[in-house]
Amino acid sequence: TLGGTLIEQKAISVAKPLLLNAVRGQEVERPPVWLMRQAGRYMKSYQIICEKYPSFRERSENVDLVVEISMQPWNVFKPDGVILFSDILTPLSGMNIPFDIVKGKGPVIFNPVCASDGVDQVREFVPEESVPYVGEALTILRKEVDNKAAVLGFVGAPFTLASYVVEGGSSKHFTKIKKLAFSQPKVLHALLQKFANSMAKYIKYQADSGAQAVQIFDSWATELSPVDFEEFSLPYLKQIVDAVKQTHPDLPLILYASGSGGLLERLALTGVDVVSLDWTVDMAEGRRRLGPEVAVQGNVDPGVLFGSQDFITSRIIDTVRKAGKGKHILNLGHGIVVGTPEENVAHFFEVAKGIRY
Ligand code: CP3
Repeated sequence: TLGGTLIEQKAISVAKPLLLNAVRGQEVERPPVWLMRQAGRYMKSYQIICEKYPSFRERSENVDLVVEISMQPWNVFKPDGVILFSDILTPLSGMNIPFDIVKGKGPVIFNPVCASDGVDQVREFVPEESVPYVGEALTILRKEVDNKAAVLGFVGAPFTLASYVVEGGSSKHFTKIKKLAFSQPKVLHALLQKFANSMAKYIKYQADSGAQAVQIFDSWATELSPVDFEEFSLPYLKQIVDAVKQTHPDLPLILYASGSGGLLERLALTGVDVVSLDWTVDMAEGRRRLGPEVAVQGNVDPGVLFGSQDFITSRIIDTVRKAGKGKHILNLGHGIVVGTPEENVAHFFEVAKGIRY
């Protein structure tokens, strides 16, 4: 009947994605699943796009390419989260920090910041002016995915962004940013404050454009000792969370830091809804340390995807059992690694989606 059809249509568009229900602690039949860096180089379909469009900046700043690449894992694996294809460094050019991501080398910042005049040059970010393609892509993704999964946005955290901008790119020992932190802390604080203001705005912009949850990557904050984390990362993360919660109280925020075992309790102090664990901490212990309020994500070693399919199955089951029922998003403990067999990724999703509590 017409009435029945209308009700059905309404049910489709109003139904909340599993991931959002799980984060809010509602009754769910299984943990939602997605993979960090699920869009990218381990997929043949992505490599084909890279041949045609060799520039990472172009691939990540052209609406059609961003949508197409974000949808590649969705089309094949149907994850419960569809993350925008972009980079944590994407806002930098809009902040007057020219950069590129060079094949084989990684991120390159052309004029690294090393003193206060460098910080003065950094402009606060106006997302709608600088990265309209991000908003447009998120709006299209939200329509295409249609609540069958959650559309995920993301930003880099102030300390992690500052590490690239001060070091000039990826770093092993983080000596330049530590030199700044431990000899001219005011200069670093001024830079971190600009990033905090800018990323709070960017999260709101992503949410207003269609993102249903946003992950904050503070990948390298764990290079700081706990006291230094409390000075150079935690206050800015808290500011971002507080600012976003004021205008978007229902937007789930996920926080990821690589190697965060020593900082878990402090990560929860930021007020985020979900803490994403890497694989150096046992899931059951991590859950206990974080307490019942916070949801957990992650924890599976990305290297597991190079193992046998039986091994992959057993690790999924082990992680889900240790995380306990609800408030858990199944994911890897860091981004999926280049060279991961696509059939193992397919197996991971198939097993994960077959789990029932
Ligand atoms: O998760 C997803 O699928 C969304 C896409 C995504 C990318 N970068 C695409 C990308 C996300 C979420 C990021 C976040 C990001 N970028 C982080 C935080 C996550 C983490 O890994 O801790 C960091 C630290 C960066 C900075 C960055 N960008 C690095 C270190 C690299 C790798 C350089 C290299 O060549 O190995 C990049 C480039 C990048 N960003 C790639 C992808 C798919 C690889 C380059 C390419 O595909 O051409």
